[in-house]
Amino acid sequence: MDRHKGRRVLVTGAANGIGWACTQFFAVEGAELFLIDLPGKGLADRAASLGSRARFAEASVTDEKAVGDAVAEMTEAFGGVDAVVNSAGVVVVEPALEHGIDVFRQVIDTNLVGTWIVCQAAARQMARQGGGAIVNISSVYGFQGAPNRTAYCASKGGVIALTNSLAVEWGPLGIRVNSVAPTGTRTPMVQDLIDRGIYKLEAVGRKTPLGRLAEPEEVAAACGFLAGNEAGMINGHHLHVDGGWLANGFPT
Ligand SMILES: NC(=O)c1ccc[n+]([C@@H]2O[C@H](COP(=O)([O-])OP(=O)(O)OC[C@H]3O[C@@H](n4cnc5c(N)ncnc54)[C@H](O)[C@@H]3O)[C@@H](O)[C@H]2O)c1
Repeated sequence: MDRHKGRRVLVTGAANGIGWACTQFFAVEGAELFLIDLPGKGLADRAASLGSRARFAEASVTDEKAVGDAVAEMTEAFGGVDAVVNSAGVVVVEPALEHGIDVFRQVIDTNLVGTWIVCQAAARQMARQGGGAIVNISSVYGFQGAPNRTAYCASKGGVIALTNSLAVEWGPLGIRVNSVAPTGTRTPMVQDLIDRGIYKLEAVGRKTPLGRLAEPEEVAAACGFLAGNEAGMINGHHLHVDGGWLANGFPT
């Protein structure tokens, strides 16, 4: 239970879904936590529930100054940054012919540019310390296309390419960069799509050999593994938490 004891972990998108599941995972494993999410998402209550080992900043990952300030505050409070999970993200489901440029930019800005901003800010501190581990949340939709998710798929393909590039460039600095690629996971993001009739559980069941959605805790366990010392030789890897979704080439 103490695999991350005393390690200093930054989680973005920490108030909900996969980010909150990661936060709880690292808390149970003994980590000190710094949480980032947007204002109005209940982040202060989330942090308070973890006691004195958690700090937080209500900020957008797209705000370079705010993210830099958060990493500086974390370093001041805990003495450094050992691991990061980049879980902040948004999805928009809309036909490509109708995608407004503002919507396209917003999805790319949050999912790809925001991930980059946090990676760079954290890695500057990790480089000073002599190493660290970054886990970006990509998606099965970074590997495969899907109708009505153009910006989302492009953003997650970008996260995979970003992860590869940083793994190569920062490996010599002792910084490992990997991604976890979940299938549909039972979070507020997906619940909203299910409620609006956009996400069809029956179709997911047919496409997924294991026949179900992932649970946030299953994604968090993969993040915890990649962020930890047991994964010390894993760099530039994309761990599919998808019940066999990507392996399945059979028509459904
Ligand atoms: N749920 C899924 O099926 C699924 C599948 C594959 C990948 N993912 C990815 O996993 C990550 C987490 O998704 P989730 O399902 O937990 O979503 P969620 O909506 O439940 O939680 C996402 C969190 O990110 C925060 N966030 C959004 N924009 C932000 C910003 N600019 N700055 C800071 N925080 C921001 C939100 O406030 C929210 O708390 C996302 O990157 C998503 O694309 C999700």
